Amino acid sequence: MLIKVLGSAAGGGFPQWNCNGRMSARVRRGEAGVSARTQSSLAVSSNGRDWVLLNASPDLRQQINETSQLWPDAQGGLRNSPIKAVVLTNGDVDHVCGLINLREGQAFSLYASDRVLGTVNANSVFNVLNPEKVDRIELAMDTPTALRGGGSDIGITIEAFDVPGKVALYLEDASKGQSFGTEKGDTIGLKVTDTANGKSFYYIPGCADVDEPLAERIRGADLVMFDGTLYTDDEMIAQGLSHKSGQRMGHISMSGDAGSVAALKDLGVARKIYVHINNSNPALDDNSPERKAVEAAGWEVSYDGMEVEL
Ligand code: MLT
Ligand code: MN
Repeated sequence: MLIKVLGSAAGGGFPQWNCNGRMSARVRRGEAGVSARTQSSLAVSSNGRDWVLLNASPDLRQQINETSQLWPDAQGGLRNSPIKAVVLTNGDVDHVCGLINLREGQAFSLYASDRVLGTVNANSVFNVLNPEKVDRIELAMDTPTALRGGGSDIGITIEAFDVPGKVALYLEDASKGQSFGTEKGDTIGLKVTDTANGKSFYYIPGCADVDEPLAERIRGADLVMFDGTLYTDDEMIAQGLSHKSGQRMGHISMSGDAGSVAALKDLGVARKIYVHINNSNPALDDNSPERKAVEAAGWEVSYDGMEVEL
């Protein structure tokens, strides 16, 4: 199985269009150690020919243009694409807006939880995906689903599971109190298995807490690609970028007693890679003490174009 990181940044990307904060300013100045990153998405293939996108970011057009494996087959028909399926892990802008790039009457399958599919179905702009060509398939939780696309099996099986998180920002309902109306299915993780060689990894780009069921699920995994939004829960507040903490946004931090470094420390996961990294996160800097700390704890920080083979 080949896994490609199409976009390693969280919502807004790195730099973010309107952000003059210290990290975004540094990458705009071209400083060494900080690299631009597009928004959160992976591409996965078992056979190198059929690909599934895990999340569809607003930067998808750029990501496809920069990834030759996702180009139409030059020997194929006038309209063709190796992208056979898309799986969404939540309804956030950074994970669903790229669907709009996949118009033009191309056949593929779209998989999401009932909650997220409900959001897509309720937004008529997504009708640009021709309903006769794009199957919208509700992902059952805790059950393996063999992905299909363009009418055939593509050699990848997904098992979706609910993780602690938050409903998409634009769906928050303040009248519902601290949960903002969050329900099961709003934020899911995926176990992604190559049907041919049986290898699997976990993709969890949004997660508020590594609770006991999640810890037990990922224990001993070959690879976990995990929410790396913030280094510290209050970093956006401390940098003057926002009044929101990580917890308020539904994201666990890397550091601290309740952070992901600590939570995964003793789970025996062979390879741990951060994805969905916010432009405020000092671990984006290759040379920062925060980067060194996560690397010392056995984590890698993904970058656009990173490839992992399993
Ligand atoms: C998130 O990951 O918290 C969201 O993508 C935030 C957003 O919608 O900007
Ligand atoms: Mn996001």
